[in-house]
Amino acid sequence: MRDAGIRRDVAVAVTGDRIAAVGVYGELERAYPGATTIDCGGRVLAPGLVDSHTHAIFGRPRADEQEQRAAGADYLAIAARGGGIHASVRDLRTRSEAELADLARGRLLRLASYGTTTVEVKSGYGLTVEDEIKTLRVIARLAAELPLRLVPTWLGAHEIPLEHRATPGGRRAYIELLINEMIPQVAAARLAVFADVFCEPGVFTLEEARTILTAARAAGLALKLHADELVAGGGAELAVELGATSADHLATISPAGVAALASAQTVATLLPGTMLFLGKAAHAPARALVDAGAAVALATDFNPGTSPTPNLPLILTLGVSQLRLSSSEAIVAATVNGAAALGLAAETGQIAPGFSADLALFDIADVRELPYWYGDRRCQATWVRGKACHQFDLPVP
Ligand code: NIG
Ligand code: FE
Repeated sequence: MRDAGIRRDVAVAVTGDRIAAVGVYGELERAYPGATTIDCGGRVLAPGLVDSHTHAIFGRPRADEQEQRAAGADYLAIAARGGGIHASVRDLRTRSEAELADLARGRLLRLASYGTTTVEVKSGYGLTVEDEIKTLRVIARLAAELPLRLVPTWLGAHEIPLEHRATPGGRRAYIELLINEMIPQVAAARLAVFADVFCEPGVFTLEEARTILTAARAAGLALKLHADELVAGGGAELAVELGATSADHLATISPAGVAALASAQTVATLLPGTMLFLGKAAHAPARALVDAGAAVALATDFNPGTSPTPNLPLILTLGVSQLRLSSSEAIVAATVNGAAALGLAAETGQIAPGFSADLALFDIADVRELPYWYGDRRCQATWVRGKACHQFDLPVP
């Protein structure tokens, strides 16, 4: 992660949806006569950024809760009185697939405008078979329609819905519904690549997460886990035990959890924007994770409750200023390692021959300026699979 592989004065050749070559301009010009050229003019061309953790399908924003937290209410306390995720669930259930697609389309294009070309998108505000499938269909529809690369994750285990919390045995019945109905239907319809669980005291216990993820794995889904976000609970160790592709959040991970991730392929996905927005002082021990040998990714956690930012470069700023990553480490965390957190390490996140032509052009002269101009939108253009996605200020042929 210390070496982001930065090269100067090189050109990138793209044929179709693939990067064909990286080399000296004159040589590539001879090798690809008649090619359309785009002059990047001393600016930084990066791999398109990979946002490997979002909850981008939701209805109304939850600015009311931000105000309540400022006045002293805690995130879990708001959830315990029926707000938080429950508020977004009530809202999403009233909306049609078309309405949700309209809302999410604009939001995803905002993510793209900051340089993101691949976005993982979770369900999790439906919490019935029908509403979770509705959400995943919205993701499939937008994946077919938008120039972005979207990776769908089923998060039916985001919360125990209130109607199940209210009845004796309801909790168990909901978990049985997930295992016996929701997972088989989602897997059969191929609506998700990953399954995820919010493992946290008050939400799903470690044992429940193990049961749900084991069933999801048996149904052919790859695994992710919301682990050790607010209270340490052995989530990172569970993710490693189950062979999860990533363990996410980790603000309260234990030393044993750090050691487990360091010895495994499971990517540690850190979401410092969430801690910032919730006003928490704690941050994931990024330095300890990197130094121990874990693969660290950075993502927005874009969602209506805890991280409503579409700006992945801003998360890189937090990676450097709050998590003490170097600029190179932060950039690798949002490209190569973000791709690895989605099982796409050989497909996107690098500018190298054979990779998908997923590129982002930034109006900066030095790649370290990406986390430096914090909150600013320096991205001028993105391409996904060789096709223009977002354009700003740059005439793209
Ligand atoms: O990653 N932790 C659980 N899920 C989201 C928050 C969801 C919400 O509050 O709506 C998260 O922080
Ligand atoms: Fe999340």
